[in-house]
Amino acid sequence: MNVLVIGSGGREHALAWKLAQSAIVDTVLVAPGNGGTAAEPGVENVDVAAEDIDGLVELAKSREVGLTVVGPEAPLAAGVVDRFSAEGLKCFGPTAAAAQLESSKAFAKQFLSDHRIPTADWIVVEDVEAGMDFARGHALPLVLKADGLAAGKGVVIAEDMATVEATLKDMLSGDAFGAAGHRVVIEEFLIGEEASFIALVDGTDIVALATSQDHKQRDEGDRGPNTGGMGAYSPAPVITPELEQNVLETVIRPTAEGMAADGHRFTGFLYAGLMVTRTGAKVLEFNVRMGDPETQPILMRLQSDLAEVLLAALDGRLAEVELDWDPRVTIGVVMAAGGYPEAYRKGDAITGLDTDWPETVKVFHAGTAIDNGQTVTAGGRVLCVTAIGESLEQAHGEVYRWLPRIGFANAYWRGDIGHRALARDKSS
Ligand code: AMP
Ligand code: GLY
Repeated sequence: MNVLVIGSGGREHALAWKLAQSAIVDTVLVAPGNGGTAAEPGVENVDVAAEDIDGLVELAKSREVGLTVVGPEAPLAAGVVDRFSAEGLKCFGPTAAAAQLESSKAFAKQFLSDHRIPTADWIVVEDVEAGMDFARGHALPLVLKADGLAAGKGVVIAEDMATVEATLKDMLSGDAFGAAGHRVVIEEFLIGEEASFIALVDGTDIVALATSQDHKQRDEGDRGPNTGGMGAYSPAPVITPELEQNVLETVIRPTAEGMAADGHRFTGFLYAGLMVTRTGAKVLEFNVRMGDPETQPILMRLQSDLAEVLLAALDGRLAEVELDWDPRVTIGVVMAAGGYPEAYRKGDAITGLDTDWPETVKVFHAGTAIDNGQTVTAGGRVLCVTAIGESLEQAHGEVYRWLPRIGFANAYWRGDIGHRALARDKSS
């Protein structure tokens, strides 16, 4: 069977790498892929854009693709799954209606409230005065979020009323966040430790993936601008077995059941961004796809055949699935182009990729391309160097020992990925 992975980031490299190991997969096509998927055994890049739904359907038909996996949110929100299903093609992910859990923060908040799933107190506003009214009745800081997909950048934490007002004006004027900014969600600021929780969902059947946690801020000590994620590790000790059960029962299951009851049955990866507060886990946001970079450390631990698992989910057999995980610990550290998430250079040669890497290290590509046989930078997040070890400390040592073998102009990475979990390990 041929498999198609849609997307071009580190998450898609990891998905393609894992799917290529499947006993039932011949070739993994990646549309459009990156410099890493171009070189991966059993994987082939195809020059079709992730949002070119007609082109993707044609590709799936002409190459007899038996399973398509969608990496990023944009094609899901644009209805790639609806289209593939209508054409009789198997595509793992939510429909456009179900993808609203991610594509509209207002939809997600309304859904959470309707189904009594724990989340920050909120309001959605379309004018500045309504926003200021809510703000006056709540403690600062307040969190303001542009309604639509804004690639993780449409969130402002306002410490004072002047910032609330300026941000409302900015977001509602529609300039700063484009079409994403016509409605704004304002919500209370939650205090706690953030964690990601990802499950495979098919209607009301649910299988949790191994736990993970990412670091969204660009700089060490979790400071600086928000990014797509600068590194991640699995498992995440913040998610204790008790909390995992609690999240399954209070967040994931009611979400799957609520979506089905509302007529938007959810199939796909359901990613809950959580704040673990003193009164339990609350939902900060949903993503309707795997996380990037969480996918890289998670899939490095997955021992089950991913293609079999996803086909089982699509055939309504998810209840039979049990995932096998490597008990060891993985960490992925993102190497970014200096300047990311703002302006950065592209086209710089990357050296060291031909290092004789040990089995414990895997370099997943994100923003890379091949230019005249040379791998060059082509995006903000360039690579995710991922390592596995017996303990977090060992995996951490391994990833930072090997990462400097790679070089490119203005390479930037955080040296403290996993610091919270390491501190937790040391204190226990
Ligand atoms: P989101 O895109 O909704 O996940 O927000 C991006 C980041 O903003 C999150 O990862 C949190 O660090 C922060 N954030 C969002 N909502 C809240 C909240 N209600 N309280 C505290 N921090 C938040
Ligand atoms: N790493 C966070 C995300 O994929 O949204």
